[in-house]
Amino acid sequence: MQIIKTIKKLRKEINKLKRRNKTIGFVPTMGALHRGHLGLIRRAGKENDIVVVSIFVNPAQFGPKEDFRKYPRNLKQDAGLCRKAGVDIIFYPDAKEIYPDNYKTYVFVLKLSDCLCGNFRPGHFQGVATVVTKLFNMVQPDIAYFGQKDAQQAVIIKKMVSDLNMPLKIKVLPTVREDEGLAMSSRNAYLSEDERKDALVLSKALNLARGLIKAGLKDAPKIIARMRKLITAKKTSRIDYISIVDLENLKPVKKVSHACLIALAVWIGKIRLIDNIIVKK
Ligand code: PAJ
Repeated sequence: MQIIKTIKKLRKEINKLKRRNKTIGFVPTMGALHRGHLGLIRRAGKENDIVVVSIFVNPAQFGPKEDFRKYPRNLKQDAGLCRKAGVDIIFYPDAKEIYPDNYKTYVFVLKLSDCLCGNFRPGHFQGVATVVTKLFNMVQPDIAYFGQKDAQQAVIIKKMVSDLNMPLKIKVLPTVREDEGLAMSSRNAYLSEDERKDALVLSKALNLARGLIKAGLKDAPKIIARMRKLITAKKTSRIDYISIVDLENLKPVKKVSHACLIALAVWIGKIRLIDNIIVKK
């Protein structure tokens, strides 16, 4: 396994692999790897000759008051996990490599970027779309792997790839959870023991919604009200949003009459967590 820090060196390696007709699977990450990331990496290994993982805490997707500085970084541990999972190349650039002085170009996916999390994190998805475009241009993967955990991100990336005719396939894999249901996230490491217990309320609220829908309740505002009640019972919680939206255009639905995305963002103490499920009618 190689750890490559410059675009120049990465290009050289990628060109060599392409000349030998190797297929490339790519998993972009911000590091602090957990089982969610490792699932994507293993799948990439099964479906491609070569696996490239990028580890880059992307400053462009953090707001001025967000946790960019505090975001967990541990290359040594990540590299160990990658080696075990069969990664061939870790791309680990520094911020100046990706955004040199006088950087000017950004990618923005209209409509899909300003709802749900975009409403609360202005500029976030522009930062994501931009860095992912740049990484795709550097790595030139055949297939790139994303998690359903970040449902809005996955929808935006798929739309961007389609709209900009990018020559690769996007695969979205299911959310990996802890035993009690908490969606795995690098940010879970910030939670205290008590907060971690309270954080279970996110997946519990989603399960409640699934149960209500199965039992015949279709009215989205009513379902959301029940979820809200469950979550606000936890004193550490503060809801950013709970939404039931169309799977493709992310617009709110009034009735769950077709397959929908139920997505939420909730603060537990000082940590903002997201989770979602897809429900069929
Ligand atoms: P990061 O949060 O490190 O996540 C990297 C990838 O792992 C994303 O596709 C994310 O959806 C997926 N992932 C995270 N937790 C998961 C879980 N519990 N189950 C399944 N997949 C999970 O998402 C980003 O980084 C960044 O925005 C990035 C795309 C790298 C651009 O900077």
